[in-house]
Amino acid sequence: SSDPEGPAKRAAAETAAALVPKGCLLGLGTGSTVGFFLPALARRQLDCTCVATSPATAEAATALGLRVVPFDDIDHLDLAVDGADQVAPDGWLVKGGGGAHTREKIVAAAAERFVVMVSPDKLVAALHPPLPLELSAFGFAAVRRAVGRLGRVERRAGALSPQGGVICDLHVELSDPAGLAAALEAIPGVVEHGLFPPGLTSTLVVGQPDGTAQVVP
Ligand code: A5P
Repeated sequence: SSDPEGPAKRAAAETAAALVPKGCLLGLGTGSTVGFFLPALARRQLDCTCVATSPATAEAATALGLRVVPFDDIDHLDLAVDGADQVAPDGWLVKGGGGAHTREKIVAAAAERFVVMVSPDKLVAALHPPLPLELSAFGFAAVRRAVGRLGRVERRAGALSPQGGVICDLHVELSDPAGLAAALEAIPGVVEHGLFPPGLTSTLVVGQPDGTAQVVP
């Protein structure tokens, strides 16, 4: 592909695939970095049972021969592996560039370990807007108005989540992610936001264009 970060994403993905134990219950994220992770995982023939955070990931994983099951009766995962849009120095993430952050956060929170794979351009000195949101379709205008007290809400054209929520982007300062997360979580109808707290990530894998990767910690 023409993605200049492709080689770094591939390096992160291949290193992350080497961290996956045999036979585990595995959550699969969404995005182009996960697109490099899936074939690397499939090649290792680990016989994992996977749940997917998006229809696109489910389809790609299934096509590679990975076992993908619904995420309804499984009450925990051993590991989840995903990309991110931004990683702050204190460990806060912004996710949801692909609009899949609700399922991604549910899967990450259900997993004993959450491994995040990024290219170096995702490491930012400070988080920057916009912040992806999923808002309830029921009462959407009222929910949007309530969220609008925090910043400008931009509806992402044609973007609905698999559970029928409306994907939006919030143009707001991200200097106090904990405060903003709490404010958003207090608004009924905010299904989920793309701020992932530092405690959620167990391991960060930073891939480099030369094919190497750093695993932190
Ligand atoms: C999907 O909703 C996002 O959270 C992705 O994880 C994020 O956009 C990373 O995508 P890339 O791997 O394509 O950069």
